[in-house]
Amino acid sequence: MDQANPNDQAPGAEDFRVTPWEVEGEVDYGKLIEKFGTQPISQELLQKINRMTGEVHPMLKMGYFFSHRDFDWVLDKKEKGEDFYLYTGRGPSGMVHMGHIMPWIFTKYLQDKFKSNLLFQLTDDEKFLYSQDRTREQVERFTYENILDIIAVGFNPRRTKIIVDSKHIQHLYPIATEVAKRITFSTARSVFGFTNSTNIGMIGFPPIQAAPCFLPSAMEGKPVPVLIPAAIDQDPYWRMTRDVADRMGYYKPAQIHSKFLPGLGMLGKMSSSKPETAIFTSDDPEVVDKKISTAFTGGQPTVALQRELGANALGCPVFWYLRYFFDSEKQSDERMLRCKSGNLLCGECKSDLSKATKPFIVEFKKRREKAKDVVEEFMFDGKPFEK
Ligand code: TYM
Repeated sequence: MDQANPNDQAPGAEDFRVTPWEVEGEVDYGKLIEKFGTQPISQELLQKINRMTGEVHPMLKMGYFFSHRDFDWVLDKKEKGEDFYLYTGRGPSGMVHMGHIMPWIFTKYLQDKFKSNLLFQLTDDEKFLYSQDRTREQVERFTYENILDIIAVGFNPRRTKIIVDSKHIQHLYPIATEVAKRITFSTARSVFGFTNSTNIGMIGFPPIQAAPCFLPSAMEGKPVPVLIPAAIDQDPYWRMTRDVADRMGYYKPAQIHSKFLPGLGMLGKMSSSKPETAIFTSDDPEVVDKKISTAFTGGQPTVALQRELGANALGCPVFWYLRYFFDSEKQSDERMLRCKSGNLLCGECKSDLSKATKPFIVEFKKRREKAKDVVEEFMFDGKPFEK
């Protein structure tokens, strides 16, 4: 049995539930902003980014990154000459799929644009604790495989350090205990939905994921702003962490939240627990073809009906996958119009998606192979980053 069933966040009137461990139902991102108390990304903020970097990344422009906390504050600090660190992560529960790498691609863009140092955490402890069926050996293997994916994204080796919880715990533990001391079980239960049957490892874990928010400050001996790009499922960790930051003498960590890349099935985010609807960076081209050819779409039952009534692009994972990953905004808008008006059939979109995904994966796999030679270069060593 898996741990931490957040009963108090069960799908109710809203019919969706988002926790760090499960996303169920059709997510209403507007409602999530209200529920989690975050800020939408405003036009003003986009203009500011444009001013500072000379462009607006398509993931921002298309609303894939849709919400934030204090991103504007981090940019203000940067404008005044105070650098910020980036922090993101991965729970090594399986191979990496295309959904996971979306926030990492965006993180790399931020690293390049703002010349930021990046801490990348792998929570092997979390993933071992979460599932009763998972062994340490499995988690260790996925940790190594996932590190290859992280490096393949192309992060700057001089500005990136990978932290594996079980290997680098001595650097996290002093901060984690400072965090843990300030959080009651009652708060953890309401933030994460822990119940009496949650194992105590999971209950004690959240401060370990909080620790890298403050590690840059500990490394530099002064409060340092930290920005976390990730999908919104990780937000409960940051709510908890922000709550204790002041009392620890640190800045609150800032976040920029993305939506989820949908799986190729009827509902829900791309998830390793539904491998037939997820495209993994390690999949062979024939497997990619097969998964895409059997993908759910927003199409009508027959070609004749589709020509007559048009199809539902917004409810189609193939459309979203193309929009977020491969189409330009213009191409995607045109695709939607042609789809809605019945001038585009699902087979064509599937074929476009296959054609775009296969070379991407082939190239990514080559980069994963090359990554094997430089793993050590990326590992956290406790030393400050080069200035
Ligand atoms: P994990 O391994 O569940 O997810 C890794 C990253 O991928 C994002 N994500 C997705 N993004 C888009 N579409 C999807 N379908 C999708 N599924 C997952 C997650 O939001 C995350 O950014 N506990 C964390 C590991 C972690 C972490 C962090 C993540 C430790 N420190 C700091 C983000 C930031 C976990 O299990 O992530």
